[in-house]
This record gives sequence, structure tokens and C-alpha cells, in this order.
Amino acid sequence: KNGLQIAIDGPASAGKSTVAKLIAKKFSYVYCDTGAMYRSVTLKAMRNNIPLTDEARIMKMMKHTDISFAPGKPQQKVFIDGHEVTNAIRSEAVTNSVSTVAALLDVRKDLSNRQREIAENGGIVMDGRDIGTTVLPHAEVKIFLVASVQERAKRRFKDNAQKGIHTPIKKLAHEIEVRDYKDSHRKISPLTQAKDAIRIDTTHVSIQGVVDKIAEIIDKKL
Ligand code: C5P
Repeated sequence: KNGLQIAIDGPASAGKSTVAKLIAKKFSYVYCDTGAMYRSVTLKAMRNNIPLTDEARIMKMMKHTDISFAPGKPQQKVFIDGHEVTNAIRSEAVTNSVSTVAALLDVRKDLSNRQREIAENGGIVMDGRDIGTTVLPHAEVKIFLVASVQERAKRRFKDNAQKGIHTPIKKLAHEIEVRDYKDSHRKISPLTQAKDAIRIDTTHVSIQGVVDKIAEIIDKKL
């Protein structure tokens, strides 16, 4: 194995991807955004007018769906069947529908298998909801990132402002709560902290502070 498996889970907008990317860079590991995979399946289903609860049709679609990543700044580029969808998968429509698709058993099985394949040789930082509990139960480092809803809504508001989106903080907070509720209450691998995960509350900690803390935890395992 070429390095450790690092699992970073937590609720929406807790800073997982920002921190995961920085950790990956610091240790020269590969970063894998599993949320982007659920978002990609959701987007493709929507574009094909497939009802998001129609698991049979979504699974048929997935059989010939390729999801890939390429380096990019500030965000990693995401491709569905070779077409770039980096921004399209972050639309409000996808964000507010992805939890429905993510609740489907066979979709989860399929994407979890793809994720395990990506992670099998180690040297990987993977962020999501069920990485430490289900996808990589033997990951050497498991982090569970949390922050208050208010703080997460504020961060999302700032991110959005840079993209010219001006949804009120209150609405963002509500959307975050709804998505967390759905992700935490679904039957299959719901969002929950793994027993052996280290919980980090980022509400009052800077990005660099969180990165330093996780790097310290990783250093001890190397
Ligand atoms: O991480 P991100 O917010 O982009 O994830 C989008 C959605 O994908 C989550 O709200 C959740 O429904 C789903 N997801 C999941 N399991 C993962 C990663 C994401 O169910 N490992």
C-alpha cells in the first residue's frame, strides 16, 4: 500500500472538501470527493428526465455512466461520460435533490464499490458521509467534522457570494438542516460518526487550525 486511507465525514458544509484537499496536498495523496459522485448521478438522472425515486431506471443508467475527476483550480474538475459538470453538479436543483438519490440502496452499492476501488492502494483522502462507517471501515484515520448550522450557513453564504449567488443565510440554514436530516435518517448507511472516528468541531477553528490538527493525527500513524 502507498500511504494511508484517510476518511473525512460530516454534515453538509462543515468544511470537509476544503480540509480534505489541503490534507491531500500536504501528504501528496489523492483526493476523492464522493459527494460529487452522488451529485453526478443525480444530475444525469435529472437531465434524462428519470424520476429520482425510480431506482431501476437509475441503475440501468448507471451501468453506462462514467464519473471521472481531473485536477483543477480552485476545484477539482468532474466529468460525466467525458463531459465536464464541475459547476452543474453544484446547482441548487442538484443540491436539494441529491439526498433522494443517495438514499437508494443499489446506487450506494455501486458508488461505494467505485470508491473502494479508488482507495484500494491507499494514499487517499476521501470525504463524504459514510466513508468511515461503510466505504472504508478499515481506514487508518477517520475524522468527523462538525460545525453549528449557523456557522455552516454563513460559510456557504460567503462561497455563494463569490459566485454571484445571493440566497439569504436563513434559507441556506434551512436547506442545510433539511439535507442533514435526510442524510442522517435514511435506512442505508446514514450519516453517523464511526465509533473510532475523531470528532472535530470547526465552528470556532480556522481552516489552517483544522488542517494542522488532522495532520498531527496522521503523522502519528505514519
Ligand atoms: O458532500 P456533498 O455535500 O457534495 O454531498 C452531496 C450529497 O451526496 C449529500 O447530501 C448526501 O446526500 C450524498 N452523499 C452520500 N454519501 C457520501 C457522500 C455524499 O450520501 N459518501
